[in-house]
Amino acid sequence: MKLQAIERVSGLTRKDFEEEYLRKNKPVVITDVATQWEATEKWTFKWLQDNYGHLEVPLYDNKFREPGENYLTPKIKMPFGDYLEIIQEGPTELRMFLYNIFKYAPELMDDFSMPTLTDGWLNKVPMMFFGGQGAKVDLHYDLDCASIFITHFQTTKKVILFGPDQGDYLYQHPFTVQSEVKLDAPDFEKHPALQHATGYDIDLAHGETLFMPHLWWHYMYYTKGGFSLSLRRHSPYTFARGSFNVARHFVVDKGMNMVLGEKWTNFKANQAQKRASAVITS
Ligand SMILES: [Fe+2]
Repeated sequence: MKLQAIERVSGLTRKDFEEEYLRKNKPVVITDVATQWEATEKWTFKWLQDNYGHLEVPLYDNKFREPGENYLTPKIKMPFGDYLEIIQEGPTELRMFLYNIFKYAPELMDDFSMPTLTDGWLNKVPMMFFGGQGAKVDLHYDLDCASIFITHFQTTKKVILFGPDQGDYLYQHPFTVQSEVKLDAPDFEKHPALQHATGYDIDLAHGETLFMPHLWWHYMYYTKGGFSLSLRRHSPYTFARGSFNVARHFVVDKGMNMVLGEKWTNFKANQAQKRASAVITS
């Protein structure tokens, strides 16, 4: 893999951002999107525990994508305060996502604002992601094809990004947005094409915002327990493409997984191997 450092910028105008990054689908870390947000100072572990510790939240471990009847279902539920305690204490693979905390705590939305660098924001669906040290998000791109601003809080999170043209090198599973490779333990014998993939290696620090264009592959690893806010934007094209992906995922992939289980997983893996072999021998 050839991973390069990402550009870090501040003081961008709207024109700069749209011309240099948005239209070129080029990722960048912006260091001053969140400097004026109340959330940047206010959202500490303790403050969240004191105010929202009573909420019952669903948690996932690193196996939530394994085939079978528990595919994509949460492992456990517990009070948010207990979970925040766990992720401050040390390693755990438990992550919290797909839970709309703003539905239960809408006042949190007053602590940040939509970036003025562009528009098209889906104001009603900001999302938060929490993870403990060692928790990871396997390599994938986002089903809905939104472009995303990810702001990290409290600690540092590692993010590895690959462009949309890298799918074959990454052993993309057909009918899904998932890659077969494990970037925490890459196996170059099983996945030789991965050596030819090119991307970015980013340590996203407290208060920094990553602009991740639509369809970019991403792997995330929590170096220490922390959390991120993601703000999503769409254009008419990405909205249509995302709607297709969502339908395909829920109809084809989830349906075939229920019917065929491991056989379906093996079929997807074989297809990924074939495409990767083709791209390195061509
Ligand atoms: Fe994602």
